[in-house]
Amino acid sequence: MNAPTVFGAPVHWPAKINEVPKDIFDREDVFRLELERIFYGPEWHPVAHTGEIPSIGDFKTFHIGERPLLIVHGQDGQVRVFYNACAHRGTLLETNNRGNKAEFECPYHRWLFDSTGALRGCPGKEDFSPSFTMEGSGLAQVRSAIVGGLIFATLHDATPDIDTWLGRTQPALMQLLGGDGRLKLLGYQKVSYDCNWKAYVDNDGYHAPLLHLAFKMLNWQGGKGSQYATENGHIAFESELKVPTNNGFLRDPSLIAFKGSHTSKGSVIVGLNPLTVMTKHLDMINVRFAVARSLLKTEVHYAYFAHVDDDADMVRHRLRQSSNMLGPCGMVSMEDASIFLRVQQGNRTPGNAVFQKGVKQEHGMWFDFKQNDEAGNLPKWEYYRRVMGFIREES
Ligand code: FES
Ligand SMILES: [Fe+2]
Repeated sequence: MNAPTVFGAPVHWPAKINEVPKDIFDREDVFRLELERIFYGPEWHPVAHTGEIPSIGDFKTFHIGERPLLIVHGQDGQVRVFYNACAHRGTLLETNNRGNKAEFECPYHRWLFDSTGALRGCPGKEDFSPSFTMEGSGLAQVRSAIVGGLIFATLHDATPDIDTWLGRTQPALMQLLGGDGRLKLLGYQKVSYDCNWKAYVDNDGYHAPLLHLAFKMLNWQGGKGSQYATENGHIAFESELKVPTNNGFLRDPSLIAFKGSHTSKGSVIVGLNPLTVMTKHLDMINVRFAVARSLLKTEVHYAYFAHVDDDADMVRHRLRQSSNMLGPCGMVSMEDASIFLRVQQGNRTPGNAVFQKGVKQEHGMWFDFKQNDEAGNLPKWEYYRRVMGFIREES
């Protein structure tokens, strides 16, 4: 890979495997290169779940980096991902977050596209250029794949097939997505964090019982489990589910009840490189669709799901539990937002951020970790460094 060419100043990547230079969280030139090499590079990005667009004509808009996408459940039953841009002069085609439409009309010159992306009408076409055809003027489609109902998109031709890319995380991912991926959407909590995307996604297995007070209040400890990573920056946690105890802290203890059937490996977290975190805790199935909007703006859509076979009581239980426990104001995660901002602010100082918990060696890489190790984040950082072309300094 060629060395980066857009830099005003070099990035000094430290020799030790457990150190990361702080300035990469706050440099516009680094962010521009990340867009090119990571977000528009050979990676898959979860952009939706089929449970969000279950009916023909359902659509969702989303972004990968700064590029707008339109995900549509077409009239032929196929789900497609398009660039959300009119095939004429590139006007943003759909401005709603979600909805249902048989056709998408661009307001500028009224070109009309159906839900398969085909151009159906365009005023004045008798005066168009000689090479114009309706067939050749549909919406630009983006390569996509579906695993467990999760819709992935990639903006690069050289991205490996989805099974290869997911690697050893795939069984955990399927378990997290209800076993068979047949999910229905309960709702979203959407938040915009004032931090670089790496400050958001570098959340680790070390902090949870230390930062989040509710874990202590509910006496909620993680069960026996492990954490493992892949060479291309994914991470998965699997552990036995331990049900929290109320301790009089909650007026309604049913909020923290577990109504599922088995607790073995009942807690699963999958983090897919670069930016998607998914969790299954108690009866909550949560996919955090995230967008690196700009250097200092990271948008996260916490999407909560039920299984399509759930009865009404289970759906209500999942909804109450999800909306109270997780997300930007959830009992066991609300402190994260302030930490993301403080990581951003504090890393404007010189030097390197240092990882310690679970670091067995300072050179070389390994991929299996204890569940509360922050070292589990290091394979992702090593992959990031390589993709970005940053050279590790000599020790
Ligand atoms: S830009 Fe969309 S119809 Fe002209
Ligand atoms: Fe957290």
